Amino acid sequence: MSVVPPHLEALEAEARHAVAEASSAQALAEVRAGFLGRKGSVSALLRGIGRLDPSERGAAGAEINRVKQRIEECVAARRTELKSGEQARALSEHRIDVSLPGAGGGRGHLHPLTRVRREIEDFLWSRGFSLEEGPEVETEYNNFEALNMPAHHPARDTQDTFFVASDRVLRTHTSPVQIRAMTEREPPFAIAALGRVYRHDLSPRHSPMFQQVEGFVVGRETSFAELKGLLFSLAEHVMGDGVEIRFRSSFFPFTEPSAELDLRCLLCAGDGCVTCSSTGWIEWGGCGMIHPKVLANCGIDSREWQGFAFGMGLERVAMLRHNLDHIRLLYDGDVRVLEQL
Ligand code: DAH
Repeated sequence: MSVVPPHLEALEAEARHAVAEASSAQALAEVRAGFLGRKGSVSALLRGIGRLDPSERGAAGAEINRVKQRIEECVAARRTELKSGEQARALSEHRIDVSLPGAGGGRGHLHPLTRVRREIEDFLWSRGFSLEEGPEVETEYNNFEALNMPAHHPARDTQDTFFVASDRVLRTHTSPVQIRAMTEREPPFAIAALGRVYRHDLSPRHSPMFQQVEGFVVGRETSFAELKGLLFSLAEHVMGDGVEIRFRSSFFPFTEPSAELDLRCLLCAGDGCVTCSSTGWIEWGGCGMIHPKVLANCGIDSREWQGFAFGMGLERVAMLRHNLDHIRLLYDGDVRVLEQL
C-alpha cells in the first residue's frame, strides 16, 4: 500500500480548480487558507503523519510537501494573473486623455480702457506725436492760471477740484501737461499725454477719477482744418469706419477759437436715448487753437508760432464700444463683467 494518503491527488486537483476559479485577490487568499492555512486540508494531512508507521512518515511527508509546494506555486501564479488583470482593467477604465485642455485658469485680456488707451497712443505715435507724462498732483498754476484760468475765473467752477494743499490739486484735466512740455522745449513739436484726472463728480457717465488724452501741436502753420482732419481720423481709428462725429463751436479759456467734439450715439443710432440725453450725440472732448496767452505763458512768441490742442475722455469710447450705460462698470473690477467685454 502506498504511503501517500489516497486522496492526495484529488485534493491537489481540487485545489488547482479552486485557485483557477478565484476571481479576486480576496477570494484567492480564502482558497489558499482553505488548503494551506493552519486549519487547511493540506496542513491537516501533515499533522496526520504522526499517526503513520515511523518507516512511512518520511516518504508521506515528502509527498505531501511537494503537493503543498505545487499548490503554493499555483496560488502565486494566479495572484500574478489577477494583479495584471486588475491593472489592465484600471488602465482601460480610468483612461486619461492627456491632450484635453486643463480645467480653470481661463485666459485674461487687456482691460477695455487699456485697449482704448493703447489704440489712441498707437494712432498719435504714427502721426508723429511723442508721448509725455505729467504728475497727477499738479500746481494750481499749471492746472489753471497758466491755462488762462485765473483765480475766480468761472471756468474753474466746471472742474470740481480736489485740493491736496493750498496750491496743489489733483489735476482736473491733462491740459497742464501742455504747460510743462511747452515751457521746456522749442517749437515745433507734437506731443500727446494720456493719463488719469480727478473731479468731484459722480453720475452714470462721470467718475471722480477718469482718463483723458491730451494732444497739442505747435508749428508755424498749424490750422483748425488740420486739427479737424486729425480728430476725424482718430475717431475712425478707435470707433471704426462709419463713425459720425461733429464739431460744435464752444468756449475754453485756453483755446480760441474752440470747439467741442461729439460722437454719434451708437446705443440709439442717433434716435435719442438716456445715454445721450435724447440728443443723439455724445460729448467726447474739446479742442481749438491754442490761446496766444497760453503760448506766452510758456515763453513762446505767438506772432511766430501757433498751435492747436485737443482733450478727450477715454471712458466714453469704451462705453460706446461695449454698450455700457454706467461708467462704474469699467472701474468695479468685476470679473463677471470684464469677461464679457
Ligand atoms: N481740458 C479740457 C477739459 O478737461 C478739455 C480740452 C478742451 C482740452 C480743449 C484741450 C482743448 O486741449 O484744446 O475739459
